Amino acid sequence: MGNISRRRLLSLGAALGLASAAAAPEAWAWSSAGSLAGVDAVTDPFQVWDPEPDAVAARLLADGVIPAVNTAWRSWTDNADPLPPGMPGYLTSYLQQVNRLPSWADAAKLAASERYYKRLASYLFVSQSIGSGIMSTVIPREARAVYWSAGGADMKDRAAKTFTFGYDLNSETAWQPTGHFIVTANKTRLVHSVVRNLLPTSAGFMESADQPRPISNGDILRTFHSVATYAHSNLLKWGIRLSSAEKEADLHAWQVALHLLGVQRQFIPATWADCLAQAEHMLWPDLGPTREGNILAETLLGYVSQPTLGLADGFVNEFVRYLLGNQIGDWLGLRRDLVQAALIRVEWPLYVAFREGTSGVLPRSGYLFDQALRDIAMLYLNNGTSPTQTPITLPAANRPG
Ligand code: HEM
Repeated sequence: MGNISRRRLLSLGAALGLASAAAAPEAWAWSSAGSLAGVDAVTDPFQVWDPEPDAVAARLLADGVIPAVNTAWRSWTDNADPLPPGMPGYLTSYLQQVNRLPSWADAAKLAASERYYKRLASYLFVSQSIGSGIMSTVIPREARAVYWSAGGADMKDRAAKTFTFGYDLNSETAWQPTGHFIVTANKTRLVHSVVRNLLPTSAGFMESADQPRPISNGDILRTFHSVATYAHSNLLKWGIRLSSAEKEADLHAWQVALHLLGVQRQFIPATWADCLAQAEHMLWPDLGPTREGNILAETLLGYVSQPTLGLADGFVNEFVRYLLGNQIGDWLGLRRDLVQAALIRVEWPLYVAFREGTSGVLPRSGYLFDQALRDIAMLYLNNGTSPTQTPITLPAANRPG
């Protein structure tokens, strides 16, 4: 991870009057030779959106049928469910084409991913909630998009909906007929399409927007790295043994997920090495604080600490700093608790080693990590065991005000 974001470097350059530093962002240079398409071409994914569902979404908004669609698709949750009645014909025709696995999906690898996620779910939930969830608040475009969309006004509900995606992907039945992931991914893709139509009409969002429409293929890939590539690196850093078949299964599940979210094959990294290279290019250099992101982070952190989970603020703040580094902790203004910081630094690796059977000694604060893992998992499970509890819905408007 770089120490200073490119965005900050650019503003610093601008403040110092360095015209070139404030010029257009670096040109995209990642070759698609490292992608599933494997063609050696350089196309900028930040200039590619998702035209077909975006047009469907525009029509749903123009026809004023978003609430009706949300009602109609409430019962549509399982991969094997037929498309529900009560939706406009053009939406049903679009979904008939995309509500399926791509021809290149490998059933054996997807089944292996279900076993892998079952084995490692608790670590993944920690990485995704306190790690990636908070990292999303220092991805400036994502933080602003989330803040200014309808869901930004109710972060608790939004976080629960977003957890649905992680829970459904990490479920041991994710890809099976009774699993939910293919449906959840299709709903999410349409939410993004609606957001692409809505946010350009938000004065607050457009004030600082730096692209004509939000959520390009590049932006989705950046979020993918902040979740999946980051989790992969965390597991390795924590000394968790992963077989090469498990690593491949994890990546393959995400490759199919990216496809279902509308990312083109020419941008989907082919290997973990390609993921790491792409993340160096598009994730770490672009992190930075925003007013909107700081407000979202405060809300999210309130969600995982007292009174919701009963984890002390100092512990949660320092766990975030441990996972994301002090620079991000400082951007978010997380108050220091040096006792908790030392405890986590020393005892988390011992705790993981104990759980993984590579050390016979449970550290003194093992109970604290047990509680954190269990409570964070509950956030997912409460949501995930009841798919109708926080269903993914299409927003009909932006954040009010
Ligand atoms: C909505 C997941 C990338 C902005 C959602 C939802 C999910 C989701 C599950 C629906 C539930 C909800 O409303 O929260 C993902 C995944 C991504 C991704 C898995 C990439 C791997 C992005 C990016 C942006 C973004 C890159 C912005 C730059 C939004 C917004 C909403 C949304 C604004 C709508 C919230 C509302 O209802 O108002 N996303 N997302 N997402 N996402 Fe994403």
